[in-house]
Amino acid sequence: MVLKDVLQKYAKTEDQLIEILLDYQNVKSNHYITKEEIIEIASYLSIPESKVCSVLSFYTFFSDKPRGKHIIQVCKDVPCYVSSDINVLKIIERELGIRVNETTPNQQFTLEYTSCLGCCEAGPAMRINDKIYTHLTADKIKAILSEYRVYM
Ligand code: FES
Repeated sequence: MVLKDVLQKYAKTEDQLIEILLDYQNVKSNHYITKEEIIEIASYLSIPESKVCSVLSFYTFFSDKPRGKHIIQVCKDVPCYVSSDINVLKIIERELGIRVNETTPNQQFTLEYTSCLGCCEAGPAMRINDKIYTHLTADKIKAILSEYRVYM
């Protein structure tokens, strides 16, 4: 789906910006927004390009760099950190052979940090694409990752 198709679904008002970015990034391969697309979105909404850029950089679920098919975001906020006796990030890094902010060579997984996912009482937590996983343990993380590997 091209950007024009996504834009046509939305009113030309600034309050549609986040929805447009979410929608387009979700359907686009490699799940990121380019400089040219920022210009096109700003033009469609008649807002400054800097406004689009500031929204992209503020929210951790947006990216201006190509990412993998599955985007893993590990909560880095304090409630999750203190509720855990495991290092979620290290376990995923070891399983996938990449570091945070990297993508696997087969373009299947990108690993990122995120701020609070809104389920602090059930930490540690992570999100893969649109799905949130809580009460993580080493075994649970490995099982979850193997589910996504099936669909590679
Ligand atoms: S601090 Fe991790 S989900 Fe809120």
